[in-house]
Amino acid sequence: MKFSHAWIEKNPWLLIGLVTLVISVGGAVEIVPLFFQKSTTEPIAGLKPYSPLRLAGRDIYVREGCYNCHSQMVRPLRAETERYGHYSVAGEFVYDRPFQWGSKRTGPDLARVGARYSDEWHRTHLNNPRDVVPESNMPSYPWLAKTRLVPDEIVPKMRALKRLGQPYSEEEIKAGPAQLQDKTEEDALVAYLQGLGTLIKTRN
Ligand code: HEC
Repeated sequence: MKFSHAWIEKNPWLLIGLVTLVISVGGAVEIVPLFFQKSTTEPIAGLKPYSPLRLAGRDIYVREGCYNCHSQMVRPLRAETERYGHYSVAGEFVYDRPFQWGSKRTGPDLARVGARYSDEWHRTHLNNPRDVVPESNMPSYPWLAKTRLVPDEIVPKMRALKRLGQPYSEEEIKAGPAQLQDKTEEDALVAYLQGLGTLIKTRN
């Protein structure tokens, strides 16, 4: 029997096997190099692991499900860069576990929201978004300002991230709880938001 294209197409299992092989090799060729490229694995200049306060804030962001309405990735499209600033690059996210990229945008993208508003604006906005943006349909989060952080909880979180390769030193981990003393969940969340995307200068 001749090993021809027509013959392969008449043997569904063989066809499935060969198609799978071709897609796997093609996929691997595209994806595997990304694990080794500097531009996708190395932090951009100035990027540091999250400070204890920002790390606590990030967990509150995840706990409250902010990602259900906000993405954190500016795509390299003109409409996006004009609205939000420089598109996101992989090296900005090397200390993000898990990523908050997302694609659902009920509200605006937050990848470059850091330093765009004052801390006071964020506090008012989180307490009741309608106080600063009358047409907003974002929920209010009034409990954040009334709830204190539990400082000791940061230690196992930092340890876990260290185990995954983040460069926290033992001293930094030990000093973590002191930095959360008497801080509220709102302090942490605002600190987290204010640092987002600020390393790449975006606005003229
Ligand atoms: C139900 C959807 C929804 C959820 C959940 C939500 N937001 Fe929003 N958010 C919006 C909308 C809509 C806007 C635009 C109107 C406004 O500024 O309030 C917005 C605006 C914002 C802005 C201002 C962005 C800008 O560039 O002007 C920030 C900051 C923000 N949200 C943070 C948060 C945080 C932090 C959380 C979680 C605690 C959260 N949001 C949860 C819908 C949401």
